Amino acid sequence: MEHLLSAGDEVTVIDNLSTGRLENLRDVIGHRNFRFIEGDILDKAAVDKAVAGANRVFHLAAAVGVNLIVEHPLESLRTNIHGTEVVLDSVLANGASLLLASTSEIYGKNTADSLNEDADRILGSALKSRWTYAAAKGIDEAFAHAYWREFGLEVAIVRLFNTVGPRQTGRYGMVVPRLIRQALAGEPLTVYGDGRQTRCFSYVGDIVPAITRISEVPSAYGQAFNLGGSYEISILTLAERIIELLGSESDIRFVPYEEAYAEGYEDMRRRVPDNGKARQLVGFDPKTTLDQIIRNVAADQRSETQAGGRLKVSMAGN
Ligand SMILES: NC(=O)c1ccc[n+]([C@@H]2O[C@H](COP(=O)([O-])OP(=O)(O)OC[C@H]3O[C@@H](n4cnc5c(N)ncnc54)[C@H](O)[C@@H]3O)[C@@H](O)[C@H]2O)c1
Repeated sequence: MEHLLSAGDEVTVIDNLSTGRLENLRDVIGHRNFRFIEGDILDKAAVDKAVAGANRVFHLAAAVGVNLIVEHPLESLRTNIHGTEVVLDSVLANGASLLLASTSEIYGKNTADSLNEDADRILGSALKSRWTYAAAKGIDEAFAHAYWREFGLEVAIVRLFNTVGPRQTGRYGMVVPRLIRQALAGEPLTVYGDGRQTRCFSYVGDIVPAITRISEVPSAYGQAFNLGGSYEISILTLAERIIELLGSESDIRFVPYEEAYAEGYEDMRRRVPDNGKARQLVGFDPKTTLDQIIRNVAADQRSETQAGGRLKVSMAGN
């Protein structure tokens, strides 16, 4: 939002605040070009109200986070499939263009050296709730592509790979904010499995301008673009780096997947993007280092804790 508002755009956000927090909008609430609607994307009237008059729509609302998906598979399926259909219909009816946020999860267990947009999807059993998010996002992409082919909807898809930044919560399964919170609190950093699974983390400050640029390029319509970090790291090394960088006294505790999630949980061992297509289209070149990402998220968490502490003190004083 900040990015679009600073470019002079008028921005309307619709969010049901299920996992999002109004507090995250503190810098934009009150801005003369910003409007917030508390509403659900399953509610067609609310979505139509938000989309009316817009020329560009960014569809980011979703049930996200492994914990949430595993514990509430129905919510994930309904929001992520039916909600997207509601958004697609509304955007089409209003003559706007659409940017759809998809995910690297759709590649599933494909551990290729660098996943390009045509890579195969290797998903586990349809009866394992862990895969409902990937399955739903795959359907979203297929829907978006069909709206483009059959109705000419101007829609581009981005597949995000572990995007991290300030104001992100670790409550629903995001690893970086969770490990940083544990390190700052002096608690053990919980690493699932053997910790040798790898990811490529990217910074929200690199991803947002790329998404915005992709949404402006007509040749992106009907296509999908990977957007991820360029540095592969195991979760164990990530935890060690967080401890070192933040000067934390914490140690590392390995937690079996069965304990962290449910029996039979399957992780992806590796997920490395080929960003070539987005680089070619919009010059995507993520620059923020992992150390910088860790520092920024830690600084944000520290200031939230201090603000929370101040609030408690002033409430106690009242
Ligand atoms: N952050 C990542 O690493 C990552 C990776 C891959 C894909 N994505 C995708 O990017 C998008 C944004 O993710 P994020 O990381 O910013 O997560 P986020 O939780 O910050 O944003 C999702 C928002 O959707 C809202 N929401 C959920 N259900 C809703 C509903 N039914 N109606 C209205 N609002 C609803 C939540 O309240 C939340 O504010 C999502 O579509 C997600 O699937 C993110």
